[in-house]
Amino acid sequence: MDEAQQAKAYAEADFSATDQAVIDRIDSLFPAGLGERIVDLGCGPGNISFRLAARYPVSEVLGLDGAPAMLAIAKARLLGEAGWPNLRFKLAVLPCPDWPAKAFSAVVSNSLLHHLHDPMVLWRTVRQLGAPGAVVYLKDLRRPGSEAAVQALLAAHLPGAPPLLQRDYIQSLRAAFSPEEVIGQLQEAELVGLQVSAVEDRYLEVAGRLG
Ligand SMILES: C[S@@+](CC[C@H](N)C(=O)[O-])C[C@H]1O[C@@H](n2cnc3c(N)ncnc32)[C@H](O)[C@@H]1O
Repeated sequence: MDEAQQAKAYAEADFSATDQAVIDRIDSLFPAGLGERIVDLGCGPGNISFRLAARYPVSEVLGLDGAPAMLAIAKARLLGEAGWPNLRFKLAVLPCPDWPAKAFSAVVSNSLLHHLHDPMVLWRTVRQLGAPGAVVYLKDLRRPGSEAAVQALLAAHLPGAPPLLQRDYIQSLRAAFSPEEVIGQLQEAELVGLQVSAVEDRYLEVAGRLG
């Protein structure tokens, strides 16, 4: 999603209900908070990062993304609004083997997994960046069982959206993983303590704490 038009279409779409649902879910799973340092992997225009920074004002939130066009939107909003002392954005294409290990008390990611050519990149990054006991919460689309199901989800959730957004949504659904595949990825990454669940009609989530 590194084209300016794609970034603009994504940033202008109203994902507020699903974005807030991510924050509410994290809040219910981890009522004691997320600790001192939260990283939001594949933060895009910052939809989740801004909400994390608002919900956890004593945590430092770092949004990472590999697309300059996405980060430009996030940074413009950060500069344009006062009141975000605990939020930063940084350009970074995963994997980032040189990043400091075990540096974050929470690793969050929404809608990144299906974008990666190699999903293990995400799980190795979670292991790399999360401190022992770190909170992990990831949410993504899950792949529908048929092309008819793809079209049904499009009709149900993005009717009337701009064609570019609809095209990206269809491609995302087709590229997404099943919960069984994600369980296999976690086993391969030797990430124990994380639970994979199907959520609603189109998502999966991975939640828990690093061992
Ligand atoms: C669908 S957007 C999700 C944005 C944001 N997490 C949200 O919930 O609104 C996926 C993001 O992942 C980023 N991305 C894809 N591959 C990446 C990689 N290898 N490293 C860093 N970011 C990546 C894209 O640039 C894009 O901004």
